[in-house]
Amino acid sequence: MDLGIQWLEGVQGLAKRNSCVITGHYGPESAVTLFQGDRLQLLEQIPDAAASLVVTSPPYNIGKKYEKRLSFGEYLRLQRDTLRESARILSPKGSLCWQVGNHIGKDGEVFPLDIFVYRICKRLGLKLRNRIIWSFDHGLHCRKRLSGRYETILWFTKSDEYVFNLDAIRVPQKYPGKKYFKGAKAGQYSCNPLGKNPGDIWTIPNVKHNHVEKTIHPCQFPIELVERLVLALTNPGDLVVDPYMGVGSAACAAVLHGRRAAGADTVAEYLQIARERVKRAFQGDLRTRPLGRPIYQPSAGDRIAQRPDQLSSISQAQPRLFATA
Ligand SMILES: C[S@@+](CC[C@H](N)C(=O)[O-])C[C@H]1O[C@@H](n2cnc3c(N)ncnc32)[C@H](O)[C@@H]1O
Repeated sequence: MDLGIQWLEGVQGLAKRNSCVITGHYGPESAVTLFQGDRLQLLEQIPDAAASLVVTSPPYNIGKKYEKRLSFGEYLRLQRDTLRESARILSPKGSLCWQVGNHIGKDGEVFPLDIFVYRICKRLGLKLRNRIIWSFDHGLHCRKRLSGRYETILWFTKSDEYVFNLDAIRVPQKYPGKKYFKGAKAGQYSCNPLGKNPGDIWTIPNVKHNHVEKTIHPCQFPIELVERLVLALTNPGDLVVDPYMGVGSAACAAVLHGRRAAGADTVAEYLQIARERVKRAFQGDLRTRPLGRPIYQPSAGDRIAQRPDQLSSISQAQPRLFATA
């Protein structure tokens, strides 16, 4: 670990002098690799067991502008290839985090991608540690099913001995003043002074238009989501890899916490933005939504949170549903 820190300080010193140490191809000395091309071409440059964390959000095969819609079987075959190579580069104590939502079939049928990813990962010998629910308030409003307001992160490890820095991601308790009321510890505070385990339901705003991290990318990670995984599942100097890195949010989270990073994307425009963001992360002037900031709640007095008079003649179904006798 000390060696990792020394290495990192060296790289960061170099980064300050040369603006950054970003390479286009992976090398053991690169602080950050931003590879333009297919994810397998990047993964094959990385030696076995070199990465401590592979974290990504792959395309969902729903026809976004950066993907070609494939048959579901073909899509899963490509995912299997990526997962197999990702497992190969994972260190024995390493983790793989696959963040996915739903694939929607042509007739509107919903296919939760984590069900399929789980099966592939099990066959690769990986072990599931948590199925994290990432919940958020904003998104498309559906007409023929309930609007989707969560996605999942499947966290797998390669073995039973894995890095898990719980103290690095603890959150404040609801009742920090609570005490044991009986037994040998009666009168002592019952909570951990470092905070509590954040649990497996993470409510973190998704990156929509008014988010401070918003770029041109249609579905980027909020950096705080990846920061939590980086802090918990890696140590300083470790390598974090994102095979479908978009505008480099995972690489930024890695750099912000003194880890190395490597990622691939096929779209040159995203790579250019990733490069700018990573440079800023190195220089300390990347604007992010800070990890742990409470979610904004409008106050009752906010005009935007009040029902306008013009709508008062339109009856709402919901208040009737909740009306008491
Ligand atoms: C869901 S987005 C990931 C966004 C990313 N998490 C971020 O924060 O910006 C999926 C990305 O995969 C990229 N992609 C699609 N096919 C790819 C491939 N074969 N190899 C590498 N990247 C690919 C797309 O261009 C897109 O940016």
